[in-house]
Amino acid sequence: MKLCHFKHWFPLALTAIVCCSSLSTQSVAAESNESVESLRGPTAISEEAKAPALKKFPKERELLDLNYVGQPPLIPHSIRGYKITNNDNRCLHCHSWDNAVSAGATRIGISHFRDRNGQVLADVSPSRYFCTQCHVPQVNAKALVPNIFEPVESLKTP
Ligand code: HEC
Ligand code: HEC
Repeated sequence: MKLCHFKHWFPLALTAIVCCSSLSTQSVAAESNESVESLRGPTAISEEAKAPALKKFPKERELLDLNYVGQPPLIPHSIRGYKITNNDNRCLHCHSWDNAVSAGATRIGISHFRDRNGQVLADVSPSRYFCTQCHVPQVNAKALVPNIFEPVESLKTP
């Protein structure tokens, strides 16, 4: 906290004291938070956490049942090397309305053409452009936190 060196300046403007004391309270709070374990593990906030081991993503899988209405379906195939950049979205090579039939892939949902005000657009909405923000590939992974959520009966395959 470089700013707090102002503390030793004399004479002190009152505003500076107020500012510095609130800053130092914040830094005390941040230090004590370091003992709280979050999903990133016990690593101190000031240190870089070790990246978790890469999961083994299956190449090709059956579609998984949805767990709730409005869930983004999980990706049933590998997405290794599929880049999404400003100029090119690999996912749309197969999932756009133009290409889906020839690629044998599901078309992106109608909802993907609506902007945040509900206005229907002629192309994929920018808010839906980064597919992997919502869609993740299937993988056999341990739940990060305990979860006893059960899907409603109507979503289960008999
Ligand atoms: C080479 C073509 C191809 C590319 C590229 C591709 N997919 Fe797919 N995708 C498919 C096919 C084929 C299916 C399977 C459809 C099925 O089994 O019914 C599929 C299925 C899916 C599904 C499940 C759809 C459903 O019906 O529930 C999602 C979600 C999905 N892909 C997302 C993505 C995302 C996100 C990317 C980019 C990171 C991507 N795909 C890239 C071909 C592709
Ligand atoms: C903001 C979250 C979000 C983003 C970003 C997003 N999707 Fe989706 N997607 C969903 C949700 C939620 C659904 C299920 C409901 C629906 O169709 O809107 C879905 C459904 C789908 C489906 C299945 C449609 C169907 O008829 O069963 C496909 C395929 C798909 N998305 C592909 C994509 C691709 C490809 C991209 C990137 C271009 C993308 N999505 C970006 C949330 C998202």
